[in-house]
Amino acid sequence: MGQVYVLNHPLIQHKLTFIRDKNTGTKEFRALVQEVAMLMAYEITRDLPLVEVETETPVALAKTKVIEGKTLALVPVLRAGLGMVDGILTLIPNAKVGHVGLYRDPDTLEPVEYYCKLPLHIEERDVIVVDPMLATGGSAAAAITAVKDRGATAVKLMCLVAAPVGIDKVQEEHPDVDIYVAAVDEGLNHHGYIVPGLGDAGDRLFGTR
Ligand code: PRP
Ligand code: URA
Repeated sequence: MGQVYVLNHPLIQHKLTFIRDKNTGTKEFRALVQEVAMLMAYEITRDLPLVEVETETPVALAKTKVIEGKTLALVPVLRAGLGMVDGILTLIPNAKVGHVGLYRDPDTLEPVEYYCKLPLHIEERDVIVVDPMLATGGSAAAAITAVKDRGATAVKLMCLVAAPVGIDKVQEEHPDVDIYVAAVDEGLNHHGYIVPGLGDAGDRLFGTR
């Protein structure tokens, strides 16, 4: 079974408080989501494999380390996942970026795929699917299925806020996928929103409603 990591670094928790605040406007919300995504990227990349190389410093030849293999692929779930990409790229500027487009049918809450474009050689890359919200888990599970169907084998999921039911759904459908979140909330309301959550992440990021 995949692990669930709650990233409770004080900076992440502090910033998340202001992300949740309904009085935080679009500009600040966007900036905070990027900052938290960057901090989460630091944690999620902790286990990347290293390989030894030789580097000539101005003084001597040194045995040093670089990350092994092909660069990571980030796969934001459109739209709201886009809000986390630049923050992660601040730390991992060489990462490739794919996109999976999904929306929740407002009546059934089921995800509907409308777009999928992934980096080449996805099967050789560590893939991080990113979406701020893990509510019913339908969107994340479908996004992970979409990348696996196209060959990805090493997938992690990064979200800001999760509901327990969403975690259960992803673990059930994708037991090989580790989940990284900044918080696990109480549950969902009858509109499928996370409680207390932070509202509609896409609308708050892009100033729509
Ligand atoms: C939100 C969010 C997730 C999904 C989570 O997207 O960004 O993708 O809902 O809900 P689930 O776990 O119940 O599937 P939404 O469908 O509102 O689209 P948007 O990103 O375009 O706003
Ligand atoms: N999608 C959101 O944007 N927010 C929620 O609380 C649940 C799904």
